[in-house]
Amino acid sequence: MKKEVDFKLHEHVEKLMRKHIEDIGDSRSLKLYDKIPKGKRLRAKLILKIAGETKKAVELASVVELIHTASLLHDDVIDKASTRRGILSINHAFGNMTAIMLGDILYSKGFVELTHLPCEVARNVANSVVKLSIGELLDVKLATAFNSSQDVYFDMIYKKTASLIEASACSAALLANKDSDKYALYGKNLGLAFQIIDDVLDVTNSSEILGKPSFSDFKEGKTTLPYLYMYEKLNKNDKKKLLSCFGKTLNIDESNWMHEKLKTTGAVTRSIEYAKKLGVDALNAIKDENLPELEKIITDMIIRDF
Ligand code: FPP
Ligand code: MG
Repeated sequence: MKKEVDFKLHEHVEKLMRKHIEDIGDSRSLKLYDKIPKGKRLRAKLILKIAGETKKAVELASVVELIHTASLLHDDVIDKASTRRGILSINHAFGNMTAIMLGDILYSKGFVELTHLPCEVARNVANSVVKLSIGELLDVKLATAFNSSQDVYFDMIYKKTASLIEASACSAALLANKDSDKYALYGKNLGLAFQIIDDVLDVTNSSEILGKPSFSDFKEGKTTLPYLYMYEKLNKNDKKKLLSCFGKTLNIDESNWMHEKLKTTGAVTRSIEYAKKLGVDALNAIKDENLPELEKIITDMIIRDF
């Protein structure tokens, strides 16, 4: 029964997102929109769990997911990604210009719809999109040279990923007259943990599971947390070897070496442990709220076996 309710809510958001694009009145935009692979809709799920089954909550969820979808269209251009969720990315199938403009249509329409929501909610979401963009800009800069600073990495993933999740949880709480600080903290920690797990899976999963080549991040110049922890533990020669692999497609020997070092330095385990600690922090932030479904999101995605 519960599953059925979730399914219906999810459907409402999906339908409203498509309706927003349909209402623009441009059939080509709608056709392209239908080609975008659908994601987990984590942000929508959070909003509906926190704010409840209201019309405003579904509206907020549809806006946030449109903005998030737009950001991934742009991100795939920036990362030169050829796949997204196991199928051809829009940039690969239709070209960079189409992907960028489709992203612009999605996020600007999202902002139009945002004006129908309370001012405080709109400001909160809009500010997070500024952070999101600054985070991506920082990610681009960091990819130009090997970064060994953990502080810089955490600042970047907070802005690039956690800020919109934080704003989703905070805005949903504002809509429902709940303690928005608690939910913002929950969202921030969930977002950070989520990005760290995403970064871990890039070095541990096969390309079949990921739907994109493994070690994509390092190839794209992204020194994510497992590499940062690994770098800390390597001797001088191994540090040199790691730097020589930066920004390129690894051959079999390099790929085996990388797997081995990520394991023996404890870098993967330490990254997972840190993500789990953030998961616990997220749970603590909402411990008095009695929302088992929000706790389940953390246990399903973060505090689990990897
Ligand atoms: C994915 O990172 C990217 C993001 C979470 C944010 C991207 C943000 C922008 C492009 C700026 C905002 C743009 C708009 C249109 C609002 P990733 O490359 O680490 O993850 P991936 O593995 O899913 O590609
Ligand atoms: Mg990317």
